[in-house]
Amino acid sequence: MKVLVLGGAGYIGSHMCKYLSEQGHEVVVFDNLSTGHAEAVKWGVLVKGDILNQADLDMLFEIHGRFDLIMHFCAKSLVGESVQQPAIYYKNNVVGTLNVLDTMVKTGHDKLVFSSTAAVFGMPQVNLIDEKQPRRPINPYGQTKKMVEDILQDYHQAYGLKSVCLRYFNACGADPECEVGECHQPETHLIPNVLKSVNNASSAKLKVFGNDYPTADGTCVRDYIHINDLATAHIKAGLYLDNHDGAYAFNLGNGNGFSVLQVINAAMAVVGEDIAFDIEARRQGDPAILVADASLAIKQLGWQPKYTDITDIIATAWQWHQNEKF
Ligand code: UFG
Repeated sequence: MKVLVLGGAGYIGSHMCKYLSEQGHEVVVFDNLSTGHAEAVKWGVLVKGDILNQADLDMLFEIHGRFDLIMHFCAKSLVGESVQQPAIYYKNNVVGTLNVLDTMVKTGHDKLVFSSTAAVFGMPQVNLIDEKQPRRPINPYGQTKKMVEDILQDYHQAYGLKSVCLRYFNACGADPECEVGECHQPETHLIPNVLKSVNNASSAKLKVFGNDYPTADGTCVRDYIHINDLATAHIKAGLYLDNHDGAYAFNLGNGNGFSVLQVINAAMAVVGEDIAFDIEARRQGDPAILVADASLAIKQLGWQPKYTDITDIIATAWQWHQNEKF
C-alpha cells in the first residue's frame, strides 16, 4: 500500500511509519514539525506542511498523487493546554481535520484511520470502558476528538468516506530498536516523567498527583498501551476498511490497569534504583480509573496487544530515554 501519514514526525506517527515500512508499505509523511521531529522521519519522504493551510494539502496530493490509505495523527493533544487555549485546539484538531476530509473528498480518497482518544469518555461511570459508554468529554481536547468522530459519521453518510477512529488509552513505550521514541516538550506523561527523574539529577523531582483516589493504593489507574501495539492496530484498521463500509470507532488498550505507584515500582525494577517522588495534590480532571475494554477491536480487527506486562513496556521506554537521539 501507499500510505499517507499525517503527523508522521510525531511520537505515534513515527512508530507507525517504521512499522508500515517494515511491512513493505510505501510511506509519505506530512507534518508541520510543530511538535514532531524531522529526525524521526526515517521511513518515507517528509513533506513539510500544515493541515490548516489548504495550499499545503493541495500541493501534497498534487505531487504524490494517489494513496491507498490515509492515517491522521496531526493534533494538539495536551489536556491542560486545551483548557487554557481552546482556540488552538478547535482550529488544529477540528478545522485542520475538516481541511483533510474535504481534500480527501475532492481528490477521491475514501479510507481514513483517525487518532482518537479515551478523553472522549470524560469521567466514565464504569472502570472497564467499551464503545457503548457515553462520550462526555470534560475538556476541549476530548471535545475536539469527539467532534471529529461525529463529523466522520456524517462524511460517511454524505460522501462515502470510510473511517476507523482508534481511541488510544495511555500510549507509551518506544521502538525496541531505539530508532524512534517519545520526545515531548513539555513532557506531561507519567512514564517519561518517571524515567526523566532518573536520567537527569538536576530535573525536578517526580510528582505523584494524588494518593486519595478510590483505588487499591490511592493513585490513579491507567491502561498503558505500547506504541507498537497501536501501530499494528492501525494497519488492521486500514485493512478493515477494504471490506467494511462505514465510520467505525474502537477502544485500544491492553485491558490491564496499573496505578501510578505500580508504574513507579516497575520503573524501579527496570532501572535498578530507587525513584524518589513527592505526593502532590490531585491534577484537575484526572479520572480515578481508565481501562479499556478492547474486545471489540480484538474481535473485529483481529488485533491482539503483545505488550501486556508494564515492566516490558517501561523497559522499551527506558532504553530510548538512555539514548534519546532527538
Ligand atoms: N501523573 C503523575 N505524575 C506525572 C504525570 C502523570 O502522577 O508527572 C499521573 C496522572 O495524574 C495520571 C497518570 O499519572 O493519574 C497518567 O497521567 P498521564 O499524563 O501520563 O496520562 P493521562 O491518563 O492523563 O492522559 C492520557 C492521554 C491523553 C488523554 C487522556 C484521557 O495521554 O491524551 O489519557 O483521559 F487525553
